[in-house]
Amino acid sequence: MVNVAILGFGVVGSGAAEVLTDNRRVIEKNLGKTVAVKRILDLRDFPDSPFGALVTHDFNDILNDPEISIVAEMMGGSHPAYDFTKACLEAGKSVVTSNKEVVANFGAELLELAAKNGVRYLFEASVGGGIPIIRPMVNDLASNEIISVNGILNGTTNYILTKMLDEGASYEDVLKDAQAKGYAERNPAADVEGLDAARKIVILAALSFGKLLNPNKIYCEGITKISSEDAETAKAFGCSVKLIGHTELVDGKVLAMVSPRMIPCSNPLAGVSDVFNGILVDANMLGECMFYGKGAGKPPTASAVVADIIDIVAHMGQDGVRAPKFEVATDADYADFGAYATKRCFSFANTVDAADKIHKVFGDALTAVVGERIAVISEALTEKDAAEAAAKVGLALVSSIRML
Ligand code: HSE
Repeated sequence: MVNVAILGFGVVGSGAAEVLTDNRRVIEKNLGKTVAVKRILDLRDFPDSPFGALVTHDFNDILNDPEISIVAEMMGGSHPAYDFTKACLEAGKSVVTSNKEVVANFGAELLELAAKNGVRYLFEASVGGGIPIIRPMVNDLASNEIISVNGILNGTTNYILTKMLDEGASYEDVLKDAQAKGYAERNPAADVEGLDAARKIVILAALSFGKLLNPNKIYCEGITKISSEDAETAKAFGCSVKLIGHTELVDGKVLAMVSPRMIPCSNPLAGVSDVFNGILVDANMLGECMFYGKGAGKPPTASAVVADIIDIVAHMGQDGVRAPKFEVATDADYADFGAYATKRCFSFANTVDAADKIHKVFGDALTAVVGERIAVISEALTEKDAAEAAAKVGLALVSSIRML
């Protein structure tokens, strides 16, 4: 019997307890061992929960219990989640987590600490909810160089974009719905402003290129400025609009960014809707490989947490088990975002002479009239060149969205 403790009995924490209990037989069948929840740490009491008797308010009850060998941290936020993780690893307990904030901010240090103490730190659920992405990148793609990763990495914003832009629902209603379904962060600003996706793309960049960037130092733009007119404009060009995390190497340095993108419908990411996430990895031998599944929500995310627990139990006592490995990026590791160029879709307020003005700047680029706006797709432009080109047109710019 392997005893597990859960830190944080919220959406994912209670989900992990339920997966371990409801799927106990299948886990025993596949693993040949029983995994049981022994303790749950939370500030609250849960008298109506079947797990209520396991709840403690004192972290030391877990830290000092020699029978607990694996701790699942699902508290969210950096502190005390990071501090408790560190203490568990130092005490010789393996830790699994869904907490992308801790992984993105402290992952390199915690992996090193785990290795030093002969235990493991796994974080499958920190990116893509229930989608297996971390383990495939660490194991199955170990023979490949990663060229780029493009991902729809936030279930809440994908749900909002789908319901708002495709189905005409109001932003407030859809956000409330996403919160009720347990998709959104405690403060949904992290979802809609792109920070949650930024944390996830820096984790994928670290796995791809070995350097853990600071999520607060990368370019990050959320979905708050995207309108139904943008979706109509995208449709006119055979595209859809999605919030994309992107990473690649530029001149040997790591570029990672989050922004809305117009995506041609021929790209599989364009068809990823609702709470689903899609992660398109381009690897030098495999080529493009798409990972797809539910990116948020209780059972999917909990399933990924339990997958890490099973991985640890299955490899207990074995040496040389593959672990993610990366180091904290220095300033010299960050690519120059100013030099990065993408095609753009510019939308201007339409006027009688708008098409002429646009063609003077963008040549014979593709244009479309959508309602009261006229849009054009440019060649790849840097940030500075894009701003200059849009200003040169001499029309009121209503929207500027990067293409993928
Ligand atoms: N708020 C996150 C999302 C939860 O919507 O994707 C899963 O990480």
